[in-house]
Amino acid sequence: MKALITAGGHGTRLRPLTFTSNKHLIPVANKPMIFYSLEAVRGAGITDIGMIVNETRPVIEELLGNGKKFGVHITYIDQDEPRGLGHCLMIAERFLGKDPFVFYLGDNVLAGGIDGFVSEFKKTKPNCQLLLAKVPDPERFGVAVLNKKGEVIRTVEKPKHPETPFAITGVYLLDHHCFEAFRGKDAIKISARGEFEIPDVFQYLLDHGYKVRAHNVTGWWKDTGKMEDLLAANRLVLERQTDGEIKGSVDKISKLAGIVRIGKGTKIVNSELRGPVVIGENVEVRDSYIGPFTSLYNGCVIHNSEIEHSVVLGNVTIRDVERRIDNSLIGQDVTIVQNHRHPKTYSFMVGDNAKVHLV
Ligand code: TTP
Repeated sequence: MKALITAGGHGTRLRPLTFTSNKHLIPVANKPMIFYSLEAVRGAGITDIGMIVNETRPVIEELLGNGKKFGVHITYIDQDEPRGLGHCLMIAERFLGKDPFVFYLGDNVLAGGIDGFVSEFKKTKPNCQLLLAKVPDPERFGVAVLNKKGEVIRTVEKPKHPETPFAITGVYLLDHHCFEAFRGKDAIKISARGEFEIPDVFQYLLDHGYKVRAHNVTGWWKDTGKMEDLLAANRLVLERQTDGEIKGSVDKISKLAGIVRIGKGTKIVNSELRGPVVIGENVEVRDSYIGPFTSLYNGCVIHNSEIEHSVVLGNVTIRDVERRIDNSLIGQDVTIVQNHRHPKTYSFMVGDNAKVHLV
């Protein structure tokens, strides 16, 4: 069995971070997003992986190489334009050949892995198996309608009145029949938004008598393509951490509570850290409060400030900020500094599509 993981796309919902970087490199609990899919696939015993990449291929390749250090083998597949998930399948046909495969969207994070999903597929041998997750807001997703035997009879995109609370996640199992959807007179067509859509592939399989099954996710699932969900995934991953680890230094007057992980070369001075929190390497936290569900990546400097429920990328400086920073995703090399002088003003240099909320 092989795997196809996506690491291309537009990443519009995570702008401005995706103007300068590939979204799959954004850390969730201080681990690049793409690692979660690699681990899930490898955890199911699949090591032959094709990875869809866009023009940011060099940064992905620099991080993952040929996959050897992760115990897998990665073949990079270039997508010239983000023409949809159907297009990802289409261009991967040569790599996938006749093998059944896991199609895993690289911005999805699953708590429980995919072993059960894969073993059920091997046992029941359908042509396609969808991983479903019960969600409170199915109208935001594609949903699958099932018959009594657990077979999918149709899928509906973002239904106004969902018939089921089960959303289709970004993990699918397929066999080579899916490629038929791109050939012949009833081949699927490019949608109004200019993409080959994955639900059209499922519909093609259903319309042509192929067996499509469903499997329910055990544990939680998050598609981290937008900020709120990325913060939620960060919280869920941190929540599951059971061991703290202090590799840096913490002075005697600092207070640590809950599960806290601190990387090499990091200094905590006169501060309070309330876990679950993860702090990378060579970070300096001084006279500050770091609250639950916060991830600070390497090289950050936090002075005389408070932050919680946030994801902070590398080399960020936050200094003398009067109010607590909450629910924030802060990109690499950002500086947030408050000067306690008069007149009181705001001065910004923020990237295109940035969101600044002052309350
Ligand atoms: P999406 O999250 O559906 O799309 P996107 O990444 O382009 O982001 P946005 O909607 O914010 O613009 O993509 C799901 C996954 O598939 C993600 O890993 C990116 C990847 N992808 C590709 O590799 N190629 C594509 O053509 C598309 C559309 C997505």
